[in-house]
Amino acid sequence: MDCIGLTSESPYVIMLKAAFLIPISHYLFGFLFLLSVFLYNFVEMYFIKELITGFRGQPVSLSFNSCSNLYQEVVSKCKTLHGRFSSTPWLCSPHLQTIFLQFFERVPACNYQRQIFKTSDGGIIALDWLRNVDDKKPSIKGFDGVQSDDKTPIVVVIPGLTSDSDSAYVKHLAFKMVKSGWNVVVSNHRGLGGVAITSDRLYNAGCTEDIRKVIDHLHTRYPQAPLYAVGTSIGSNVLVKYLGEEGVNTALVGAVSICSPWDLLIGDRFIKRRLVQRSYDRILGIGLKDYAELHRSVLPSLTDWDSISKISCIRDYDKHVVCVLGNFETVDTYYRTVSCSSYIGKVGVPLLCISALDDPVCTRETIPWDECRANKNVVLATTQHGGHLGYLEGMTAKSLWWVRAVDEFLCALNSSSLNHREKASGEVGDEQPVEEDKAGDSISVDNDKVQQEPDAMELAIHCERIPLGFASVGVNCEVLNGLREDGDVSKNEGVVPINGVESECPKKVLILMSATGVVTRQPLKPRQPSTNNSEINTRFSSTPWLCSPHLQTIFLQLFEIVPACNYQR
Ligand SMILES: *[C@@H]1O[C@H](CO)[C@@H](O)[C@H](O)[C@H]1NC(C)=O
Ligand SMILES: *[C@@H]1O[C@H](CO)[C@@H](O)[C@H](O)[C@H]1NC(C)=O
Repeated sequence: MDCIGLTSESPYVIMLKAAFLIPISHYLFGFLFLLSVFLYNFVEMYFIKELITGFRGQPVSLSFNSCSNLYQEVVSKCKTLHGRFSSTPWLCSPHLQTIFLQFFERVPACNYQRQIFKTSDGGIIALDWLRNVDDKKPSIKGFDGVQSDDKTPIVVVIPGLTSDSDSAYVKHLAFKMVKSGWNVVVSNHRGLGGVAITSDRLYNAGCTEDIRKVIDHLHTRYPQAPLYAVGTSIGSNVLVKYLGEEGVNTALVGAVSICSPWDLLIGDRFIKRRLVQRSYDRILGIGLKDYAELHRSVLPSLTDWDSISKISCIRDYDKHVVCVLGNFETVDTYYRTVSCSSYIGKVGVPLLCISALDDPVCTRETIPWDECRANKNVVLATTQHGGHLGYLEGMTAKSLWWVRAVDEFLCALNSSSLNHREKASGEVGDEQPVEEDKAGDSISVDNDKVQQEPDAMELAIHCERIPLGFASVGVNCEVLNGLREDGDVSKNEGVVPINGVESECPKKVLILMSATGVVTRQPLKPRQPSTNNSEINTRFSSTPWLCSPHLQTIFLQLFEIVPACNYQR
């Protein structure tokens, strides 16, 4: 027998020979093992961690001011916020949580009734009502959603970027709140929810004008009903900014912010940083591009359609559309101006904020911990896991943790002594409800335009849902009641009719394919400064033995040969 040490062969050749002796199947297993380790880490799975802890989940962490009445009187009574969030065992990844919600979730059937709300600049907003159907109080004829002397509290839902009343999580929330005895109204963003853009404006993350008008209108029309609001994702930025602008003057009694982006500037840098994040950026960017292109014919102030057609991320959209329409000098100016983290300190009504630390879209880096703790009206609840608006729980993944938390919090708030607004509105209560036309200078609601029985034409309008990234994927025409077209709405050449039910499947496939394409193809390169400095192009060449930013910085502090300076004081 040859002893290895005695052979004349090179050790490398021996190693190679030995390597050939290992069966190919073992290599295959090894490769598959490494691949699964890579994938496990790539999608940030935490299955093993959960397995070890027996799928008990992680405790929810609450941050609040030590003399916060909101905590003492309301949040301390919420079991959900003092428990744990344990995600669905087979969805132990923020990405799976986020994506599963968008594509596969079984959604409760919501029969919205629609009001069309006209703003003073000629724009229209679709208000989708889901009512707490009370047999004792038969619904009034005509159509209004809610009787004007109804005391049932109302929740206004402000959806996220490219989402509307048809999005899965909005339906989950609306359904749950109605079951708990609330009236729910989804305030769709302009141009979403199947309505046309009728003025030269789109919504953006800082656009609080629309929600201000909607809330004022609801308060005037239903003075007896306490008003609450829930904002999700970008809708939460709008809501918190609005609350900061209004302080104690808002008609809202309380609010909840879910998965807020908090700081758009940090968020922008974050979403460009990693391969996984870029796929979200791309999907959302393409959704926004479609949104702009859909309304092209009614947006004459947008001229650079060449650039718009090339939009492939959120920042591009903000640059070519939001900044142009909103008169922002640069994208970063826009981000700095509208970020809600600078408004959180001025919020004057009870506000619960829920954020997941592993949110793959709105990063934890943006969470304003100290500002939340400084404001007595704010309680911040963070969870280790949950993804972006995901929070799917239970073996069958059919319930969302944050929806339960919102329900419990709002019910506790409604029955607490912090319900100031109810007392205030009680004084006005005996008066006859204010006439609708007085609700605002130029705000009107076309109640008579909305009927319960949709006919074919009305249905067609509702199917014009936009195939935006995460939005409107599960179009279900049956759940929508009719909107009768009126003069203004019919001038919607910009709206491309899409048959909702038929386009549902290809849309999903398309988005999944683009997601896969992005993940496998997108190169990792940092964003270059967009300023054009080509004219000033001189060179700086550093000391050869200090070719490192750290050596440069430290050397200056410690070892610099200093010129003698004779200061006079
Ligand atoms: C809200 O509070 C009022 C007064 O405490 C109560 O009558 C009503 O049932 C509550 N509504 C909900 C939906 O909890
Ligand atoms: C930069 O400036 C030069 C000269 O002004 C111009 O020719 C070039 O197109 C600019 N490049 C970009 C990317 O704007």
